[in-house]
Amino acid sequence: MSITGSKTDGVAVKLKYGMVGGGPGSFIGDVHRRAIALDGKVDLVAGSFSDVPDEVYETGHELGLGDERLYVTYQEMAEKEAAREDGIDFVVIVTPNFLHYPVAKAFLEVGIHVVCEKPLCFEVAQGEELKKIADAKGCLFGVTYTYTGHVMAKQARDMIAKGEIGEVRVVMAEYPQDWLIESDEELGMQGAWRTNPKLSGRSNCLGDIGSHAENMVNYMTGLKLKKLCAKMDTKVAGRTLDDNSQVLLEYENGATGTLWCSQIAIGNDNALRVRIFGKLGSIDFVQEDSNYMKVTKKGEPTQIYSRGTGAVGEVAGAFSRLPAGHPEGFFAAYANIYSAFAAAVYDKAAGKDVDEESYGYPTIDMGIDGVRFVNKCCDSNDAGSVWVDF
Ligand SMILES: NC(=O)c1ccc[n+]([C@@H]2O[C@H](COP(=O)([O-])OP(=O)(O)OC[C@H]3O[C@@H](n4cnc5c(N)ncnc54)[C@H](O)[C@@H]3O)[C@@H](O)[C@H]2O)c1
Repeated sequence: MSITGSKTDGVAVKLKYGMVGGGPGSFIGDVHRRAIALDGKVDLVAGSFSDVPDEVYETGHELGLGDERLYVTYQEMAEKEAAREDGIDFVVIVTPNFLHYPVAKAFLEVGIHVVCEKPLCFEVAQGEELKKIADAKGCLFGVTYTYTGHVMAKQARDMIAKGEIGEVRVVMAEYPQDWLIESDEELGMQGAWRTNPKLSGRSNCLGDIGSHAENMVNYMTGLKLKKLCAKMDTKVAGRTLDDNSQVLLEYENGATGTLWCSQIAIGNDNALRVRIFGKLGSIDFVQEDSNYMKVTKKGEPTQIYSRGTGAVGEVAGAFSRLPAGHPEGFFAAYANIYSAFAAAVYDKAAGKDVDEESYGYPTIDMGIDGVRFVNKCCDSNDAGSVWVDF
């Protein structure tokens, strides 16, 4: 890695990243690439974009990379990039779920920082092992819980931390979609692996999108789960994993809540909504309307906070990119995660102590919490939807 000292020399040098996954026809890898490019601080210089060699070269050439930095396996990429004087500063992992753990491990072991998609891995023990290796190697680790990058999600987190809606009593989180309404045979590449337990994990729906809802509550409120009770349904005939799940939640402070996620809720695209009810007020955040947030203080009319206006405090406002009324969205949310991660990489390279949490990107601890959540839901469901301790 070559960035060490670049900032301290007073010369701003761009960071370099490589990507595993994100080949032809894939979804989220391309979103990451476009979002990272928004700030112009980090360049894509290497990739292992697919498990099919021709596809690695197809995507790499389309993106302007030469064969020297294209790798037909992620193991080769980790080894060769670590050995290069101008090797990547971090890797972005955008493969199906089953590869997150081995790919992250391969890069951490050679001392390369990691940004990984959710869900982090299959087992809590795997997540803890990754954390241990990251700590031992001095590596940073971000998990792309995308919606935490929205300015209004950050505003909710800031307001709740400051006590503006009082102690949280009730949470209601939902993430309905309808794209898996068809049978598995009719699904494209994204649906095919998500509904396969070997590639997706113990859960499809809860792991894929319930994990976002759980994370948003955790991110906004900081509440710690005490126990939960899950009912995971498979509504489409012939499918193995859940496509509609409901979870009752109880938190350590006594707050209670409900989480519903579905991929068969006709009429819904990506309708993540999180409502937080405190003693003094409530917050209502809807992902598809992420430039706004409803806030109601006890006894007062509901107010609509608008991103980019004076209603938004300094902490969240620092992530706002456009004037109010020019909508920001999914790309900007990812870009906010990456700008925070890049700041941490620069500081680490300059020899500073880096407290990852303080940069504002989702950390490996959130990733591990998410894996624990999915597994506890499966344990509860498998035992007949009983309450299980978190
Ligand atoms: N944060 C979010 O909002 C969000 C949204 C969508 C997907 N995701 C997550 O992103 C990940 C990818 O999802 P997707 O929808 O883009 O999947 P996808 O099927 O569209 O793409 C997966 C890519 O990984 C590649 N791949 C498979 N095996 C590989 C290997 N051994 N080496 C290198 N590349 C390999 C495939 O060729 C493909 O290009 C999943 O973990 C998913 O949960 C997160």
